[in-house]
Amino acid sequence: TYYTQAKFSTSAPDIRHLEGDEGIEVAFAGRSNAGKSSALNTLARQKNLARTSKTPGRTQLINVFELEEGRRLIDLPGYGFAQVPIAMKKKWQQALGEYLQKRKSLKGLVVLMDIRHPFKDLDQDLIYWAVEANIPVLALLTKSDKLKAGKRKAQLMMAQEAALAFMGDVTVQTFSSHNRQGLPELEQMLDGWFHR
Ligand code: GTP
Ligand code: MG
Repeated sequence: TYYTQAKFSTSAPDIRHLEGDEGIEVAFAGRSNAGKSSALNTLARQKNLARTSKTPGRTQLINVFELEEGRRLIDLPGYGFAQVPIAMKKKWQQALGEYLQKRKSLKGLVVLMDIRHPFKDLDQDLIYWAVEANIPVLALLTKSDKLKAGKRKAQLMMAQEAALAFMGDVTVQTFSSHNRQGLPELEQMLDGWFHR
């Protein structure tokens, strides 16, 4: 697929250091350990494109992956990690907010949340910012393999109901990096954002 050609491009220490605000980029955001890096690897069919870890807070830098010139996927550091000092958390939240507001090339935001605990406070803040900035959101309920079909469906329906409260362009989809459930739907959403 288009996404298998993803190549590591650069790391930025901070959103303010991201360069080249041209073309189209799609960012993957979510709490630490939500499965952002795993989802990117699954999408790209590459085992070690983005670093994954059992330890939350592994991805500290912003990693940029290029699909082709002017088309990028961004792996953002996770938020909500308990062991991070409060001052750093605040700084990161502020930077995230700025990124959503100012980044002209940001054309879609994938917000990844563990299907067992979707829409925590910080997830909601992020989605509200995106809606305010007119950026479409795909709320991806990750690790869907952890639930049996019935429970998975119930969680999806509950999350879809909850998503209505944002009054914006927010789509909810389940996803698993372990068995690729939801991968075609993720690709379809990205295809739209990348105008493919
Ligand atoms: P940070 O970079 O720390 O913010 O984390 P992240 O959101 O990038 O999460 P990462 O992809 O590193 O995955 C965290 C843990 O969840 C790892 O142990 C993964 O193996 C596991 N994991 C990720 N996706 C899935 C999934 O679909 N199913 C299951 N069962 N486990 C998953
Ligand atoms: Mg990561």
